[in-house]
Amino acid sequence: MIDTHIHIDEEAYAEDREQVIARQREAGVEAMIVPGVNAKSIEGILDVCHRHKGYCFPCLGFHPQDVFPEDWEQQWAIIEQAIRAHRDEIVAIGEIGLDYHYDTTFKEGQHEVFKRQLALAKELNLPVMIHSRDATEDCLRILKDERPLRGVVHCFNGSRETAQQILDMGMYLGIGGVLTFKNCKLAETLAGDDRFTPVPLERIVLETDGPYLAPTPHRGERNESRWIALVAEKLAEIYHIPTEQVIAQTTLNAKKLFFA
Ligand code: NI
Repeated sequence: MIDTHIHIDEEAYAEDREQVIARQREAGVEAMIVPGVNAKSIEGILDVCHRHKGYCFPCLGFHPQDVFPEDWEQQWAIIEQAIRAHRDEIVAIGEIGLDYHYDTTFKEGQHEVFKRQLALAKELNLPVMIHSRDATEDCLRILKDERPLRGVVHCFNGSRETAQQILDMGMYLGIGGVLTFKNCKLAETLAGDDRFTPVPLERIVLETDGPYLAPTPHRGERNESRWIALVAEKLAEIYHIPTEQVIAQTTLNAKKLFFA
């Protein structure tokens, strides 16, 4: 099992980070991918990934929620420089994208930062880790304009139409705890219907988005990588295959995308 998205550098893990990481190893988690969000996060991410070299793998990037008119240019300069300096150890540029959930006042700034990072990913031949919330249409449009790209749309919870557009671009879907939530439509979306075939398991990677979005029955708790096994179990139900097969395939997918 590989957790392709966990903020293990964040404050939520400050008190017992080493024990948390040890626990995931014991539970069979092979690797964790740690996404960047802003200039301030760079040092902590690189620090934990250096201490756990070969286990925690860093990404660097500029999250849309951290893009503000006052300082985005300064932040971008720092992040871009760090991405270039650490090109050989980061496994993706992320998390990057668009987020209109709380704030839509600086869309053009989000678009600019997003496009610059997609261009940089192509220049450096790195995959991208996409965050998109309440911004599907704009996000897909920008991604299409910037093709070809390798990457994953993290924490996917969209429609089958949206999934298809992502798949058509050759990208992966990051699936996490949301899949196990009651009343969540994602299981039906993945399973397909009379119009759509199921989403191929070959295009799914597992993630926690820890500390957030812990799967049932841990909903509301601080998330841990080992609980992606619960997401794998749910996928096994949807695809009518053994959980071990889901784990083997999604691990292979993550290796192909991030470690090839
Ligand atoms: Ni995240």
